[in-house]
Amino acid sequence: MSTGIDDISLYTSDFYLDMHTLAQKRNTEYSKYTDGIGIERISIPAPDEDIITLAANAALPVVQRCDKTKIGTVLFATESGIDQSKSAAVFVHRLLDLPANCRTVELKQACYSSTAAVQAACAMVARDPEKNVLVITSDVAHYPLESSGEATQGCGAVAMLITENPRILEIHPESGCCSADTWDFWRPNYSNYPLYDGKFSMINYVKTCKAAWKEMSETKGISFDQIERFCYHLPFSTMGFKAHIKLAREAGSQKSQTELENQLLPTIQYCKVIGNCYSASLYFALCSLLDNAPERLENTMAALFAYGSGCSGEFYTGTFQPGYRKYIRTDMNKKLIARRKEIDFDTYLQFHKAADPIGNSSGTYETPVMTTGAFRFCGTKDHCRIYEPCSENVQ
Ligand code: HMG
Repeated sequence: MSTGIDDISLYTSDFYLDMHTLAQKRNTEYSKYTDGIGIERISIPAPDEDIITLAANAALPVVQRCDKTKIGTVLFATESGIDQSKSAAVFVHRLLDLPANCRTVELKQACYSSTAAVQAACAMVARDPEKNVLVITSDVAHYPLESSGEATQGCGAVAMLITENPRILEIHPESGCCSADTWDFWRPNYSNYPLYDGKFSMINYVKTCKAAWKEMSETKGISFDQIERFCYHLPFSTMGFKAHIKLAREAGSQKSQTELENQLLPTIQYCKVIGNCYSASLYFALCSLLDNAPERLENTMAALFAYGSGCSGEFYTGTFQPGYRKYIRTDMNKKLIARRKEIDFDTYLQFHKAADPIGNSSGTYETPVMTTGAFRFCGTKDHCRIYEPCSENVQ
């Protein structure tokens, strides 16, 4: 029996900030953003959007296309949780009207948790193939104004249905992991923003990538040139190129720099215009590959690298399934990204403040209606977060 991704769907905010605007306000050359870090636009959540609304919107098309009664578990991966105790999975479980006899839990290890969720889901399905697992990865990457991380913000969610005999990507048991206790990026409970050492985080990313690859290639006998496609966790798109080229050289690949860059090009298209989505970024790269690969991917092998600061990394492989194109949502994904509205700098400042996790602690407040998504965050009442479907927005 094989296990893997049977369905996959993405979602991002209705609004974006263009890097021209940020470059002008931060007195920075636009080319630093576009060529240096490889980002042209970043998705910014409106005050009535958050990880729950992004997640529910991403998962809705998946749930509409499957037998809901077969979903036995919802695994919600995030590092921008909205509660220290109650899991984000429970909110989405209600919004999607999933069966009560369902397991719900939230997972955290910076950007790595989505891959931990995917691996756990494969194991659960192998144990009980009658039950499917809904994995949702959703994050808002939120950095201080005027910080070096500001240009690498973004937000989005990806939902995946993990089943036996999957129709999109069969995930192989072969993988390589690497963990170490590092201080490259973290967010204390009392802080609205992460603390980070940007340069060290990039070095640590590459070091972890190489170590995870070594573990997988040496113990499982997988060679670099055997893999047709690579997907990386993308905090910004040039990070993927840096890691891929260094890994290729370490692994002894004879491919030229241009060949290696071309190998990654289809995977960075969504990161370039959405930004970092933390735990969801690797799966945005996978969607980007599925939607933008110049040739059919059927029966080709992909290697996926997940990195979460702090740190934990994993390489694993999968094979794209015959006929997978019937089940992906290329047109819908492209329309969803193209539909976003540009915001001016003052609106960005308002949205940025509203996204502070330790922002409004008055216990009761309402958010303005802004999103055109199928679900919205209405505010809080007596410290309880209120989410509602927007039936007028459902197509
Ligand atoms: P910075 O100091 O703003 O930028 O930090 P820089 O001066 O290093 O420039 C960036 C690149 O642009 C450089 O290229 C410059 O040469 C180039 P490189 O030398 O690296 O090849 N550049 C230009 N290119 C063209 N035209 C120009 C120009 N000017 C400069 N005019 C940094 C950049 C990424 C460090 C910063 O944005 C940051 O700290 N970001 C947050 C941390 C981060 O994203 N780390 C990535 C690895 S860790 C990770 O992925 C985990 C994470 O997702 C969190 C989690 O796991 O939960 C972050």
